[in-house]
Amino acid sequence: MSTSLEGKVAIVTGGGRGIGKAITKRLAEAGANVVIASRKLENLEATAQEYSSLPGKIAPVVCHVGRADDLEKLVGETEKLFGPADILVNNSATNIGQGPSLDVTDEMFAKMFEVNVVSALRLIRLTVPKMIERGTGGSIINIASIAGLRPQPGGLLYSATKATLIMMTRNWAMEFGKHNVRVNVIAPGLIETDFSEYFWKNENYVKKLEATQPIPRIGTPDEIGGMALYLASSESSFVTGQVFVVDGGATAL
Ligand SMILES: NC(=O)c1ccc[n+]([C@@H]2O[C@H](COP(=O)([O-])OP(=O)(O)OC[C@H]3O[C@@H](n4cnc5c(N)ncnc54)[C@H](OP(=O)(O)O)[C@@H]3O)[C@@H](O)[C@H]2O)c1
Repeated sequence: MSTSLEGKVAIVTGGGRGIGKAITKRLAEAGANVVIASRKLENLEATAQEYSSLPGKIAPVVCHVGRADDLEKLVGETEKLFGPADILVNNSATNIGQGPSLDVTDEMFAKMFEVNVVSALRLIRLTVPKMIERGTGGSIINIASIAGLRPQPGGLLYSATKATLIMMTRNWAMEFGKHNVRVNVIAPGLIETDFSEYFWKNENYVKKLEATQPIPRIGTPDEIGGMALYLASSESSFVTGQVFVVDGGATAL
């Protein structure tokens, strides 16, 4: 058992910033070659450049995860650059439609599921059959949220997509376990990134968090990176279908 990922190939969606960037760093430090994918090339290139001295190589690929043809291109590019994926991190997400549930439209529902859920379904379809065929196993890491475990005020769609990802993870794990393809999900609490600034820039929200959360502070992206490294590596070889809550104890209450 070790946390070495030497010789492994990883895809991290949303790997150019925030939590995805921290995961990318951990995987490349451990020796994996990592393809990072999202819509904006600048973030991806900046991250690849910043971590260019790490043992694993990092390559950017522009990809809108809500588009099936982009996902096909992403997997094709990965195979050309580094070979078939051993590790897939479904991290990209969006959050439109935050607000009263009666304002949620069919279009918002469709877009939220396309980006946050269907992307993972498609990427798993594009990568897992090859992991099974090669017989070398694999690790899928889905990034959900504690909002997928309990409702979030104004977050009907966000919570629904993350809860769906959690249940799909357990189903995938059940099916793929015999092929040594493990599927787990991380459910972060509040982590300081662009995505969550609405919460951590709100003084009252932060004060309440500091007064109630067992570890009374906002988390850092690297605190999710460490969990992802564990799940990607052979240290977690007997672990599948699990939800790893990394939230400073927020949901322990
Ligand atoms: N921060 C938190 O407090 C928190 C808590 C729980 C869960 N999470 C989850 O953690 C994950 C990462 O979020 P983060 O906090 O690191 O946010 P972030 O810094 O805003 O990163 C979001 C990433 O998703 C990518 N992305 C968004 N829409 C995309 C699309 N249509 N196609 C491809 N990539 C797309 C973005 O890249 P581009 O803009 O370049 O496309 C960006 O790299 C998400 O799944 C989020 O739900 C975050």
